[in-house]
Amino acid sequence: MKAFVEHANITVTNLERTIHFLQTAMPDFQIRHQGKNTKRWCHLGTEDSYIALQESEPEHVQTCQRKAYNDLGLNHVGFVVDNINEVSQRLIAAGFRNDDEVMDETYRKRCYVFDQDGIEWEFVEYVVSEPNLKNSYKEVDMTAKIAIVYFSHGGNTKQIAVKVAEGVEQCDVQPTLFEIVGDDIQAGRYSKTEVFHELSQYDAIIFGSPTYMGSAAAQFKAFMDASSDSYCKGLWRDKIAAGFTSGGSINGEQQQTLLSFFVLANQHGMLWAGLDTSVHVDALGLNRTGSSIGLVSSHNENGKLHPNDLETATILVYALPC
Ligand SMILES: Cc1cc2nc3c(=O)[nH]c(=O)nc-3n(C[C@H](O)[C@H](O)[C@H](O)COP(=O)(O)O)c2cc1C
Repeated sequence: MKAFVEHANITVTNLERTIHFLQTAMPDFQIRHQGKNTKRWCHLGTEDSYIALQESEPEHVQTCQRKAYNDLGLNHVGFVVDNINEVSQRLIAAGFRNDDEVMDETYRKRCYVFDQDGIEWEFVEYVVSEPNLKNSYKEVDMTAKIAIVYFSHGGNTKQIAVKVAEGVEQCDVQPTLFEIVGDDIQAGRYSKTEVFHELSQYDAIIFGSPTYMGSAAAQFKAFMDASSDSYCKGLWRDKIAAGFTSGGSINGEQQQTLLSFFVLANQHGMLWAGLDTSVHVDALGLNRTGSSIGLVSSHNENGKLHPNDLETATILVYALPC
């Protein structure tokens, strides 16, 4: 048998008050035994472990000047609970705490509460079961990193890129917009190698370009060509990919632009996420152009983008499984 902590013995000023506190936090804590020797005492806990509470007569209570985490002695006792938010809410409702602050860490959630005697108790909920992770205090960044790479000459594709970014932000993820501009192209080749270095750190890359003569604009194609170095090193493998384009016609071969993104993504070993909405399958009323590969937008004769396309751009992120 492995040795384990069975109980801690703690002096309190009022037995019932401390029992009420502990049972509010952990209703499954039962009185295992209680009695009176020179002082009243109680064992409160489960079959496996318990807290031995010992009541001191008020006139004998020494007010302790102990500085927690500094002076010798016990700082707190910790309990593992199933649902820390419920524990916190119960303690608030019973008046034992007045805020619901719970430390939300990668592998555990915890909160610390002082009772009426100034004794500190810790409650912890583990969100993993592996012992090595339970003991790990390394914080993992669980936030997906999403990049939006686009070219826009007249501003329409840029408007869509901004709307796509707004949608990403609504998912509490900070997107990064990489705009390709004419000066980035040197001797026909996209020249910003540092952008490729950065992109290798992302979980998802969303491509955007206007449709020019039935395909991606040359400036975006220069970027696609320059990605061959990342392709050779497999740097985009397993990242999520998606795309959007804008054109001047309702059906101006914009799908060809998206298909070229799709092919690019597959060459890189990326996982393509389409536009999972349509007026036919849900009530959102979005994706009026009915493109399932990615967002196809078009503008009116004044060059103004259709509001439905802009709105659809905000949900392009929903298709990304990250
Ligand atoms: C050279 C050129 C070629 C174009 N070819 C197409 C096309 O094949 N299909 C289409 O629907 N629109 C085409 N258009 C219209 C643009 O795609 C459209 O105006 C787009 O919204 C421009 O995007 P931007 O404002 O981001 O530059 C073309 C525009 C130009 C300047």
